[in-house]
Amino acid sequence: MKPLNRVIVSKDTSFNPIWIMRQAGRYLPEFRTIRKENPDFIKLCLNDNLSSEITLQPLKRFDLDAAIIFSDILMLPYGLGQKVQFEKNFGPRLGDLDLNEMAKIDEIDFIERINHIYKAIKKVSADISLENKNTIGFVGAPWTLLVYMINQKSPKKELKKNFFKDKLLIKQILTLIEKFLKIHIKKQIESGANIIQIFDSWAGLLEEKYLPNYIYTPTLNLVNYVKSLNVPVICFPRGIENYKDFCNFVKPDAVNIDYKVDPKKILKDIKIPIQGGLDPKVLLTDKDTIKREASKYLNIFKDHPYIFNLGHGVLPETDPNMFDYLVKTVKNY
Ligand code: CP3
Repeated sequence: MKPLNRVIVSKDTSFNPIWIMRQAGRYLPEFRTIRKENPDFIKLCLNDNLSSEITLQPLKRFDLDAAIIFSDILMLPYGLGQKVQFEKNFGPRLGDLDLNEMAKIDEIDFIERINHIYKAIKKVSADISLENKNTIGFVGAPWTLLVYMINQKSPKKELKKNFFKDKLLIKQILTLIEKFLKIHIKKQIESGANIIQIFDSWAGLLEEKYLPNYIYTPTLNLVNYVKSLNVPVICFPRGIENYKDFCNFVKPDAVNIDYKVDPKKILKDIKIPIQGGLDPKVLLTDKDTIKREASKYLNIFKDHPYIFNLGHGVLPETDPNMFDYLVKTVKNY
């Protein structure tokens, strides 16, 4: 059985597999070399030779248990015809959202626009180095995608004042997002992804009263869909605070926690397998601190099914040697 399945499906507590969010990315000099020659990020995601190479880069260096496909959650609005660009020192910038134009896109158009992602997954999952490892496919959660599609950029700390003004429009967009997320998930699984992670990076922006409508229900629909395809699903509702209610409602197969929640409280409140938690900034310190902080999570979850990961993506300024030290610390625990 693949390492993540042993924890998520068999609830094995005898070992802790490790992979790291954003493990394929800017902290790696070999990624930056490719990136410099490919200034258009979307085109890079759609170049299956390069995106599969980038996906495998961290696995060549470190003893990781899974590959996460090099792509982006914003490939969904791109596939639906919304303009998406990544600007240096700014982040993602999206074009105007035209629902009438979007409604004309059908499943075939959508798949055609992002088909190279699936080709990359096929290449990666057929690679011999992944024989005993997982291939993780992913999507953005409906709420987080809605935020990017309406806000047209990262919302930083809060939403536009009139974000919820047009409730009908929001409902229509969410319906569209859900339909195409299901298609995107199914295609990733058919291409070789054997775990799906749902990133809800902006879950923490919502007040509690909005959670059922914008987070619980739309995520539950997706989770049930992934389960129906017999693949484990991990949710990451970053910043949600109340992970207990989230898990009780959505029932993912595993949940990734952020670095702001107390892992001891999580252990008490949550029965399903846990992933992640360590503050990515710990990797910017020194070996002793890394060992101490990583051991804290490993100790707390020693009798609970636990996949090691961070509480958010690895930071671009991380030294790959420190990353390596973290992986070795977890493997030698
Ligand atoms: O290694 C992996 O985890 C796989 C690849 C991956 C990327 N993005 C590549 C990427 C994954 C899983 C994502 C998910 C993603 N994308 C999320 C959810 C996780 C999170 O961070 O909360 C979000 C919110 C996005 C949207 C997005 N894409 C942002 C906010 C940014 C950063 C913009 C910036 O300049 O800081 C991106 C760009 C991005 N996605 C990069 C990578 C490697 C950096 C692009 C570059 O090289 O400039």
